[in-house]
Amino acid sequence: MARSLDKPKVDLKKIDTLIKEYDGKKWALIPLLQKIQQEIGYIPPETTQRIANSMGLYPVQVQGVISFYTQLYTKPQGKKVVRVCRGTACHVRGGKTILKLVRQHLGVEEGETTPDYEYTLETVACIGVCALAPNLVVGTTTHGHMNPRKVAQLFTDRKGME
Ligand code: FES
Repeated sequence: MARSLDKPKVDLKKIDTLIKEYDGKKWALIPLLQKIQQEIGYIPPETTQRIANSMGLYPVQVQGVISFYTQLYTKPQGKKVVRVCRGTACHVRGGKTILKLVRQHLGVEEGETTPDYEYTLETVACIGVCALAPNLVVGTTTHGHMNPRKVAQLFTDRKGME
């Protein structure tokens, strides 16, 4: 198993600067949350109170919006998000095996991030390129016609960590 690295430090100064841009603009809660995630990689839970104070909202309102949108993360994500398709076309062409192999290579389950914060593993309902099934996406690159050899090639740098 890979050695656990320190959780990335939260740059509260940078977050406060972003929050200041939206001071008092309740309508801009979602754009602010997206901007924080874009800059920091996720929305640290300790920022909820700061955002609420600045926008004149209750912390529970901010938390409610964060938990409603699945694309907003409250934990640090890996540098690359790996999305394995679990849609029907991919499933019937071996998507389950592809997911199992990716899990083994990365050493994490769905929704988890590798201890070195390189990869976060997710599954998606359909990537939209069913003709290339089974598919997965690493970052912004889609990889089609996946098979065990291709999975091994993609994550070959992970082998020494298992
Ligand atoms: S089902 Fe996998 S891309 Fe559509």
